[in-house]
Amino acid sequence: MKRMLNRVARGLAASMLIVSMIMGLTACTAGTKSENGFENEISDSKLVVVGFSQVGSESSWRVANSESMKAALSEENGFELIFDDAKQKQENQYKAIRRFIQQNVDYIVLAPITETGWDDVLLEAKKADIPVIIVDRQVKVSNPTIYTGWVGSDFQKEGEKAVKWLEDELELRGRAQDEISILHLQGTIGATAQLMRTRGLEKALEEHENWSLAALLEGEYTEAKSYEVTKGFLEENPDSPIDVVYCENDNMAFGVMRALDEAGIAYGGEEGIIIVSFDAVRSALEACLEGKINLCVECNPLHGPRVVKIIQELEAGERIFKESYVEEEIFSYRDITREVIDSRTY
Ligand code: AHR
Repeated sequence: MKRMLNRVARGLAASMLIVSMIMGLTACTAGTKSENGFENEISDSKLVVVGFSQVGSESSWRVANSESMKAALSEENGFELIFDDAKQKQENQYKAIRRFIQQNVDYIVLAPITETGWDDVLLEAKKADIPVIIVDRQVKVSNPTIYTGWVGSDFQKEGEKAVKWLEDELELRGRAQDEISILHLQGTIGATAQLMRTRGLEKALEEHENWSLAALLEGEYTEAKSYEVTKGFLEENPDSPIDVVYCENDNMAFGVMRALDEAGIAYGGEEGIIIVSFDAVRSALEACLEGKINLCVECNPLHGPRVVKIIQELEAGERIFKESYVEEEIFSYRDITREVIDSRTY
């Protein structure tokens, strides 16, 4: 009965959502508190209630992603968004999802920190008949029906594009046969973005006998951590040759660049250490135009409208793709233009 009522309410919300989006109407909400203090009923039928569990705010990419979600899932667009910042802790994501279930939200959106550990909590959401949409990184679960769909980047393709560019760049420099020493800065261990970007480099290391790792450092996707571990590495290994730094996001690249600056080591351009980075946020593209970063591999954070589209399709009773990949490009210091940077909103 509850499920039926939910469906009727969601159907109603769908029609109201479409009407309000067309007419640009702003809806208002009403909530009631239960004994446990949670808002159990946020049930103005005009609004579709979405609980979003976000990873944290570790990077410029993440900040842009949160802004995109907030702007798209706005009251003006017919949504009530309950935003939860997990501060890079998976336990916080479990708590948020369980809270969303108690609040009886219409949809749960999850940006998972790591791929594993989701079976129990997502099964609870499924039992409560709440569709779960995964964004950005992926989840590995034993029963794929416990989530409805996923939208995000093809992180494996990103890794492959990065190493292909590196092969071509070394060829252009006449260094294809040289010994190449690579410093690898990894993001949050177990996140799809880390696993797949790492896989790209690992595969290339197997294929190129003359490529080797100078070190594998964990930068947790933050500038501060990446700066700290790179500085430590350079101090302990002043004579270690570095030809390439492979950074699994832009903020980590900024941390590395700061450590290299302080150590007086040249990077970028045609002569210095080759810096490869992922995300291609505006500040990284600026650094690419200046020649400080050699390659920016794009990872698009603007998932808000994509999630809205998925919800609209579900509300209309349509089938959605289980997985939707976003198209992305690469930008190198050889071909980046001012126009590209000016068109970047984040
Ligand atoms: O999952 C996407 C990755 O997470 C981005 O590359 C990184 O900047 C973010 O923190």
